[in-house]
Amino acid sequence: MTDYSTSLRTDRCGDLRVGDVGRQVTLCGWVDRRREHGEHLAFVDLRDRSGVVQLVIDGAHDLRSEYVLQVTGTVRERPADTANDGLATGAVEVDTTDVTVLSTAEPPPFPLDDRIDVDEVVRLRHRYVDLRRPRMQRNLEVRARVNSAIRQAMEEQGFVEVETPMLIASTPEGARDFVVPSRKEPGSFYALPQSPQIFKQLCMVGGVDRYYQIARCLRDEDLRADRQFEFMQLDAEASFVSQDDVLAFISHAVSSATEAVTGERPGEIPRMSWDEAMERFGSDKPDIRFGMELVELTEVFADTGFRAFQAPCVKGIRVPGGADLSRNRLDDLTEQCKQWGAKGLVWMKVEDDGINSPVAKFLSDEEMGALRSTLEAEIGDLLLIVADERHTVRHVLGLVRLELGRPPVTEGGLHFLWVVDFPLFEGLDDTGNPIPAHHPFTMPHEEDLDALERGDLLDVRSRAYDLVLNGWELGSGSVRIHRREIQEQIFAVLGIGAEEAQTKFGFLLDAFRYGAPPHAGFAFGMDRLTAILAGEENIREVIAYPKTQSGADPLTNAPARIDEHHLTELGLRILPPTD
Ligand code: AMO
Ligand code: AMP
Repeated sequence: MTDYSTSLRTDRCGDLRVGDVGRQVTLCGWVDRRREHGEHLAFVDLRDRSGVVQLVIDGAHDLRSEYVLQVTGTVRERPADTANDGLATGAVEVDTTDVTVLSTAEPPPFPLDDRIDVDEVVRLRHRYVDLRRPRMQRNLEVRARVNSAIRQAMEEQGFVEVETPMLIASTPEGARDFVVPSRKEPGSFYALPQSPQIFKQLCMVGGVDRYYQIARCLRDEDLRADRQFEFMQLDAEASFVSQDDVLAFISHAVSSATEAVTGERPGEIPRMSWDEAMERFGSDKPDIRFGMELVELTEVFADTGFRAFQAPCVKGIRVPGGADLSRNRLDDLTEQCKQWGAKGLVWMKVEDDGINSPVAKFLSDEEMGALRSTLEAEIGDLLLIVADERHTVRHVLGLVRLELGRPPVTEGGLHFLWVVDFPLFEGLDDTGNPIPAHHPFTMPHEEDLDALERGDLLDVRSRAYDLVLNGWELGSGSVRIHRREIQEQIFAVLGIGAEEAQTKFGFLLDAFRYGAPPHAGFAFGMDRLTAILAGEENIREVIAYPKTQSGADPLTNAPARIDEHHLTELGLRILPPTD
């Protein structure tokens, strides 16, 4: 038990219990609520990080919301009819004899009650007030616990913490860099790290053997619920290891973090190949908390006369009890599917007297029968079918599945999943160059080196793996290329010429001349893991000082203009906006 007593207090507000009855205590905290009782008697809830306790104050005091007090009094049991079961300290109150106002306070800009929704910009502008709310205090504690558990788990496994620089040259994670102008070399810029990727690989060449860091990463990308400009990764790399070894290290770390927050250690984390994930869930980050899997129907409609289903791939999902979806909702969903890239969406309601669908008349009885049995349809279900190229069908139905079935973050438990055997390239860009699914240092699958040689690029699998939690991509990693010639071959395939490769990654290629061990690694988002463990849908809720959706910090007003002389010193001039 931590001793929270200090020179100014004996106890924390939220810690008092019936066992403390009779003790004289001195407490410090903020006025949470006050209720007058007659002319001279007031009930004040005093709040600190640990919670609130009720003070009974006799005598006239001007005590307002959020005033900071130091009070002394005696703990006594509350009369049975006034006890509050919903409060940890609800059985006691403090009969207060001395009250000192340590700070007065203006009325808070918003109520601190967790149940009240407050505009986010207002919350962030006054984040110091927002942080006083129990929800935020809890989230910060969850975050600290996750950090601590991860550090301990990595160190138990022999990983050494190494700090890598913030002012660097560009990293190849595929997002836009944040840059910092150089004063000593006007016109030149540092990039802030999108990840410590290259440095950790250089650590392996440097014999560090097992590296980890809770690393700050910066990426200038559009912000979403699971994305911030700056975020924290558990970043790790190890030498003389296989994919299985890395999966074991990281499984241990996330399991320890989960246990530290929930008290329960998850079982072994299941694995699924990328292809299976795409086939069954239409996503490389399947949310396996619920069913509604994508079911193959291509065979069922192999000889169909219905034009829409004459496609290379037909798949469907069964929405249990979905037959009561309104016509409007189905029309919206169809529209949405078209925006996601489908040509349309067929819906069928399974009703007492048969299938109700606008396209039922185009399908034969055999097709209808086979469809119902393949989808295991029951009365009351809704069946949704898309026909198209395989990747479009998977993509669209995967999104439909989430749209109709995804539970809120606090429901359905915690389902970690390893997705393995990613393709090396996720497609071709407009100029015909392949797009790496991970970064260009990822080792191709040994069995697919022939395909790489032949140029069947989209058939090449990689030694890359992702960790997924409840449908969120938690992290990614891979076995790396440690041989210069394979790395050069991959750069060539990616359309990165020898000269460009030398300019961008020369230091890595050079390092590989000096004895690079085989190595592999991983990084996962600490903010994402913490958010899910804290039951929050948005990572901003678990970051003390996050940016808004538009990338601003309402608290400090960043980003802000800088002085003219500062610009001159950096050799910069601001151009008028172009649009
Ligand atoms: P990757 O780019 O997949 O891999 O990033 C790893 C994890 O970092 C988290 N993450 C983010 N979290 C919040 N806001 C963001 N903008 C953001 N971007 C990424 C995600 C993601 O899964 N160097 C490689 C790892 C490796 O190969 O070892 C890397 O950074 O949870
Ligand atoms: P149409 O023949 O284009 O009028 O479409 C008839 C119905 O089939 C509409 O409900 C469309 O939304 C649907 N549809 C058309 N093309 C496809 C497709 N490729 N996959 C699934 N549904 C489709």
